[in-house]
Amino acid sequence: MSGPVQGFSKLSKEEKIQWVAQNYTHNPEQTTALLKKYWNTDTQLQKLHDEFIENTITNFYLPFGVAPNFQINGKRYTLPMAIEESSVVAAASKAAKFWLTRGGFRTRILGTEKVGQVHFLFKGEFDRLEQFFKSVKPRLISEATPITANMEKRGGGITQIELRDKSKELPDYYQLHCTFETLDAMGANFINSCLEQFAKTLKDAAQEFEAFSPEEKNLEVVMSILSNYVPNCVVRAEVSCPVSELNEDDGIAPETFAEKIIQAVRIAEIEPYRAVTHNKGIMNGIDSVVLATGNDFRAIEAGVHAYASRDGQYRSLTHAKVENDTFRLWIDVPLALGTVGGLTSLHPMVKLALEMLHHPKATDLMQIVAVAGLAQNFAALRSLVTTGIQRGHMKMHLLNILNQLGATEEEKLKMVDYFKTHTATHSAVVEAFQKLRAN
Ligand code: MEV
Repeated sequence: MSGPVQGFSKLSKEEKIQWVAQNYTHNPEQTTALLKKYWNTDTQLQKLHDEFIENTITNFYLPFGVAPNFQINGKRYTLPMAIEESSVVAAASKAAKFWLTRGGFRTRILGTEKVGQVHFLFKGEFDRLEQFFKSVKPRLISEATPITANMEKRGGGITQIELRDKSKELPDYYQLHCTFETLDAMGANFINSCLEQFAKTLKDAAQEFEAFSPEEKNLEVVMSILSNYVPNCVVRAEVSCPVSELNEDDGIAPETFAEKIIQAVRIAEIEPYRAVTHNKGIMNGIDSVVLATGNDFRAIEAGVHAYASRDGQYRSLTHAKVENDTFRLWIDVPLALGTVGGLTSLHPMVKLALEMLHHPKATDLMQIVAVAGLAQNFAALRSLVTTGIQRGHMKMHLLNILNQLGATEEEKLKMVDYFKTHTATHSAVVEAFQKLRAN
């Protein structure tokens, strides 16, 4: 193939499949059959999914699991989780059950501020730019009224517009740094629409500003876009209990267990190599609920990791301590989530997930998602400082290996039983399976 493929998006779904199968696979017939096998037989439902993105040729499944027994601020939840990693839902459920009898999870919203910026170039005197900004600020807000009116009726809208001088870092570069309250919406569309209007007003008003020189009047907007870094849209989730109640079934004294967890968290607070994996475990919980509830997990990931390095070094999102014989583990995490707009009223599984969570407001969902992250961190640390992670992981991964080996249901039962008392590694499973087949 040479040169770009023309008009690909205009081809029918069948034609696209044919093109992919013939150009990129060894067995076009098999490929076509596989792709079609994943189509939903309900044509309306399939059409809905086809139209989420461009060039859809089939669906890509992720398991949708549930983790029960979460008590959050005294209320019981079962968390919907969409994730492929075998041990995540089991770990979440285990942590939820552990804390259920120890007061459950408590959460608090620390802020809900969203951010967007207009990035522009200005060649001239900063004093005059400041003067201009002061005069144009009311107009920025008033000309955005058609966009903000509805949000304002509900109690949200633009909360601040600031002029920021970045010209020391990049010549002639300035920003309108804007903050918003977007209530139950994640707010990307609202914020981007406001910003694009600000940019237009800024350019028009600069042309009209008499104190500006001709060069200053030609203020140039580079781009207008929301920021996924939301250090003031943060939720805290925590668990705590008397150290003596940290009774473990892993043969370790509660005091030692508490100390080990605290040590593990300290390591993740000061050591970036460990912090990344520590936070990855937290994201196992966070992403799976974010995905199940139709939110943008890439935005969440980007924002969370930026927050984890806000002082210049990448650090743990969770913290732990013992004070007055009480063990406490908590997380502060930025989560710009929505429970209206986007996929929330479109994707049937997302609608179901939100229904399971009692139709949460965005701030409720922030708290639930933070809890999922904290639970996952507790479960990981608990395994890491006691039995090691592999025991649980391999137990969950066992079925994947058996499926790869083509085990029958009866063989699977026998193998699961066998590995209750044997250490499961990939080679041990293969060996045991071969023996079983040989008998
Ligand atoms: C695996 O997906 C996540 C863990 O590595 C997290 C951690 O080490 O804390 C178990």
